[in-house]
Amino acid sequence: MSVLGIIAALHQEIASLLQAMGPNIKTHRIGQRDYHEGTLMGRSCIVVLSRIGKVAAAATAVTLIREFKASSILFTGVAGSINQQVKVGDVVVATQLLQYDFNASPLFPRYEIPLLGMSHFDADTKLSAQLQQCAQDYIYQDLKIDIDATSRDAFNLHQPQCHIGMIISGDCFVSDANHSIQLQQDLPAALCVEMEGASVAQICYEYAVPFAIARIISDQADGSAHIDFNAFLEQVARFYSAGILRRFLSAPLD
Ligand code: ADE
Repeated sequence: MSVLGIIAALHQEIASLLQAMGPNIKTHRIGQRDYHEGTLMGRSCIVVLSRIGKVAAAATAVTLIREFKASSILFTGVAGSINQQVKVGDVVVATQLLQYDFNASPLFPRYEIPLLGMSHFDADTKLSAQLQQCAQDYIYQDLKIDIDATSRDAFNLHQPQCHIGMIISGDCFVSDANHSIQLQQDLPAALCVEMEGASVAQICYEYAVPFAIARIISDQADGSAHIDFNAFLEQVARFYSAGILRRFLSAPLD
């Protein structure tokens, strides 16, 4: 039987999924995290809050795979844009993930994970295409229903777009324009920056488990990144994450 692992770094991003799992949810506490086992739209799922950062996310992914036999993993959450075309309210679905703060040079090339010989990890093509379709359907069809006009105006969410491309991760909330510019110069293919995805990607690669990652852009990874962050999370991102995942889970399995 297939088991889908669903990870988010912030409580708001999985709150409504946990509610939707209903009273038959079984919670397992392992390594100070709660793994919620149950069904969503008839599919066996484990939903878990990893907390923030690469170590937390990697530990969570290992537990999902080893303890719960997750056969695929999805991660949803927010990210800061580091690309001019990617705006607040857009969604980025990862094709590749890279740990931008990994640097064992001169022993190994910058970004390369020693002994794996890899500097980025590819998301699963099929799962990512499904997630992209769900994100697109969400922003074109459900967004206006879920998010009130005041919040849409406040965050300038006119017609958000869905992008696919490289997501980069590191243990730092990027809230300084110079840092953001440096990342853009170093990794021009990257669309957004967050703090977990590439570590989940490495674990999934090591265990050969397919995964996909969708990020909702909450900020421009500059000096104002922290200002609207909590409001965006409460008023916008929580609906996106749940809405995209609900669409994903409702799609027929093939
Ligand atoms: N997640 C959301 N915004 C972010 C930022 N600016 N830096 C890192 N992770 C983020």
